Amino acid sequence: MQTETLDAAPFVHPSRMMLDSLLYAATLAPSPDNNQPWLFESRPDGELHLLHDRTRALPSDVGDMFSMIALGAALENLCLAAGNLGWRALVRYPADENGHEVVAAIRFVEGGEADPLADFLEVRCCNRKPYPRRPISDESRSQMQASIASQETARLHWLSDRPSIRKLAGIVADADRIRFEHRPFHTELFHQLRFTPREAESTRDGLDVRCLELPLGAASILRWLRHWPLVKHLNRLGLSRLMSFSSAMQVWRTGTMGLLTTTDTSRLGYLQAGRAMQRVWLTASKLGLAFHPLGSVPIFLSHLARGTANDLPSCYRLRVENLADRFEKLFPQATGQGLVVLFRLGEASGGARSLREPARWQQIVGDR
Ligand SMILES: Cc1cc2nc3c(=O)[nH]c(=O)nc-3n(C[C@H](O)[C@H](O)[C@H](O)COP(=O)(O)O)c2cc1C
Repeated sequence: MQTETLDAAPFVHPSRMMLDSLLYAATLAPSPDNNQPWLFESRPDGELHLLHDRTRALPSDVGDMFSMIALGAALENLCLAAGNLGWRALVRYPADENGHEVVAAIRFVEGGEADPLADFLEVRCCNRKPYPRRPISDESRSQMQASIASQETARLHWLSDRPSIRKLAGIVADADRIRFEHRPFHTELFHQLRFTPREAESTRDGLDVRCLELPLGAASILRWLRHWPLVKHLNRLGLSRLMSFSSAMQVWRTGTMGLLTTTDTSRLGYLQAGRAMQRVWLTASKLGLAFHPLGSVPIFLSHLARGTANDLPSCYRLRVENLADRFEKLFPQATGQGLVVLFRLGEASGGARSLREPARWQQIVGDR
């Protein structure tokens, strides 16, 4: 992983064509609900800035954790694409400047080498299909581990025995159930869903229902569920349980579950963790393995760790505390670390990458 400080090497000024290809690669990164929380600035001295576009952050995010993970993934893609151009990316992490949310400043020097993971930037996608229950091989796990060997703060943990996967399926379902029952989460979900190809094409962000692997007819039913009073009523009749059952089934129909954690829970720590997540995901793609992140458990447990779960109604807060206890029993080695992403992993084909907006960037003239 290239996380180098600036040195005295002569910097390359990317041409417009090169810049386009770097930004295109960055925007192929995954983001929660496909919110694409990035912006770019090209500076007169050839430095490229990656910024957090707070207007696109998810309301349920905590301490910018989700945004930083996505931005870290975009940064990793950018560095990999630079290697393909024969450049090395030198990255510094400035503190917020002038209220501008610059999360990384990147300069390029000659002498970079192509990383084989760069070949999988366009192949990587989120695969929500059922996977075989056969665990992935030890060799595959080792390769994923090796892909983040230089990342000191990232840790990978695995679960592949059936009793533990069964317990984890229950935990994920209970976390998702809260998402279906608490109005702000319902609002957030329906803000991100795109129900028709036309809608998906017009925004080129959010969750296209065609990528969600819903059973036949489920998308039409889901559309009706945008009306909160209806959902509130149906939840009393068991709707949220029914909806979260499919989350449990997804985990149940998986051979290996992975957990990425970080020992550094600062914003920078999560940015670095996003780089690590992307390398693990790209390595999975290289190995022909399907990958599916599950964000509910990490986000709820992070709210709990930061004390912001207190903002939840007490019935949900108690449920989150219960989730935390059960989760810690499954992953005792991760205790005290920041959760980054829980993911399904398996030998499954299919999956399709969601649409992306063209990179939002501006050329800065003068010294702003
Ligand atoms: C931090 C993070 C959390 C995510 N959580 C979920 C999740 O809970 N459920 C899910 O189906 N996909 C989840 N995803 C996958 C995104 O929805 C997906 O990356 C995005 O829609 C773009 O699609 P693509 O990865 O196929 O390009 C998550 C991705 C990230 C980066």
